Amino acid sequence: MPSSKFSLESIPDLTGKVYLVTGGNTGIGFATVLGLASHGATVYMGARSKEKALPAIEDIKTQTKSGTVHFLQLDLSSFESVISAARELRRKEEALHGLVNNAGIMGVPFGKTENGYEVQFQTNYMSHWLLTYHLLPILTATSAESPGFARIVNVTSDGHERFPPKGGIKFDDTDLENEGAMTRYGQSKLANVLHTKELNHRYGPTSSGLRVAAVHPGHIDTNLNKQATGTAPSAVLRAVTPIMRCIGILEDKEKGAWSSLFAIASNDFKASDSGAYVVPYAKIGTPSAYAQNQGLATKLWEWTDRELGSKGLLDQI
Ligand SMILES: NC(=O)c1ccc[n+]([C@@H]2O[C@H](COP(=O)([O-])OP(=O)(O)OC[C@H]3O[C@@H](n4cnc5c(N)ncnc54)[C@H](OP(=O)(O)O)[C@@H]3O)[C@@H](O)[C@H]2O)c1
Repeated sequence: MPSSKFSLESIPDLTGKVYLVTGGNTGIGFATVLGLASHGATVYMGARSKEKALPAIEDIKTQTKSGTVHFLQLDLSSFESVISAARELRRKEEALHGLVNNAGIMGVPFGKTENGYEVQFQTNYMSHWLLTYHLLPILTATSAESPGFARIVNVTSDGHERFPPKGGIKFDDTDLENEGAMTRYGQSKLANVLHTKELNHRYGPTSSGLRVAAVHPGHIDTNLNKQATGTAPSAVLRAVTPIMRCIGILEDKEKGAWSSLFAIASNDFKASDSGAYVVPYAKIGTPSAYAQNQGLATKLWEWTDRELGSKGLLDQI
């Protein structure tokens, strides 16, 4: 892939600005937290395990003296955990300048969460939708105070284009139990791009002033491939990962954070870029045909709103 003109210097001083990065304890999320903190930001590291988050925060402290990083308990396989994380952040902070919906799982065997949804669909998409929903009030208020500074990044994957089921989203069977693990991953990652498209439509620069992006981070050497234990092609992917690493196809996690950092904080990500699909590294790309379908984006938003609303999860917190 061609190299990017992105540089960390295009990120301004972020002192006084507040961010939340989900899945911030490792991989691309860790590099994103580090990048924001090293520019002076206060960053909440959303993580499901305190045991993993606290050493990660210590690691960041040894790498940069700037910024402040806090642990935020967040397990995306539980809607209750998502709501309590949003509530805690809103209780502690008056402003939120950026939400990076980064956490994800890929290619894991079929399973359901305690809330009854397929585990990849809830972790990667539905819980991030719910988290975003409950943080929209603080994000839009921040946007009114600091125009151009309140942003949302949904970390997706080029898998949104390669793997989704026919039709993109199977509304009558989002579990996809009879499909492969990567088909379920592809559907969840397509949902991330469609979520971004509808967010831009409803809350973007011409309405609430938010800037939003769906980011494909690149092919990065992280824990993600190690958990791909479902049937082929995820098992194949897991097997070839060490070879890809040896021949240098996988990039390091610092580079994997560039596109997220570009969209969440760089001066070079303009209002006119809002709603974009950002590809390696920090460039505006073109998502799949399904992902460009405004009707599908609106349908998914309304479906999700109904699913979560019917469980009382969208009431004021
Ligand atoms: N690496 C790539 O080549 C690549 C390519 C395309 C897209 N992506 C996307 O990039 C994002 C980051 O992935 P990565 O490569 O950095 O993977 P990673 O190293 O496996 O990190 C994933 C993060 O998500 C967290 N997470 C997983 N399930 C969670 C849950 N139920 N609740 C809260 N956090 C949870 C993990 O926490 P634990 O440490 O506790 O497991 C970890 O912090 C994902 O959305 C992925 O789909 C990655």
